[in-house]
Amino acid sequence: MKLQNTLMIGLLAISVPPLHAYKGDASAGEAKAVVCAACHGQGGNSTIPINPSLAGQNYTYLERALLDYRSGARKNAIMNGQAAGLSDDDIANLAKYYSLQSGKLVNLKAR
Ligand code: HEC
Repeated sequence: MKLQNTLMIGLLAISVPPLHAYKGDASAGEAKAVVCAACHGQGGNSTIPINPSLAGQNYTYLERALLDYRSGARKNAIMNGQAAGLSDDDIANLAKYYSLQSGKLVNLKAR
C-alpha cells in the first residue's frame, strides 16, 4: 500500500468522532435539576413515595428514560411534560448529575 493511502486512512480514523461521545456535564445538570428537585428531592433522593429516587441510578438508564418520556415512547403525563423542553445535551447533563449522586439506590447496590 502506498504511504499516502496509509496516511489518509490514519487521518480518517482520527477525524471520525465516536458515537455518543458527549456524556454530559454534571454541573450543568445540577443547574437544570432545580425544577426536578420539587418532586425527585434534593440530589435525586425523593421523600415522596410516588416520585422515584434518581440518585445513583445508572447513566444510561436515566438518559433512556428521559429520551423516551420526550419522544412519548414512555408514557407518563407528568414526565412527558417535564421532558418535552429538554435538549439532548440537557438530558445528558441531567443523567450525568443524577448518576453521580449518592442515596438509596447506591446503598442498595452495596448490599
Ligand atoms: C411534578 C413532579 C415531577 C417533576 C417536576 C419531575 N418529575 Fe420525574 N418523575 C415524576 C414521576 C411521578 C415519575 C414516575 C413516572 C412513571 O411512572 O413513569 C417520574 C419519573 C422520572 C424518571 C424515571 C425514573 C425511573 O426510575 O424510571 C426520571 C429519569 C425522571 N423522572 C427525571 C426527571 C427530571 C430530570 C426532571 C426535571 C427536568 C423531573 N423528572 C421532574 C415526577 C416529576
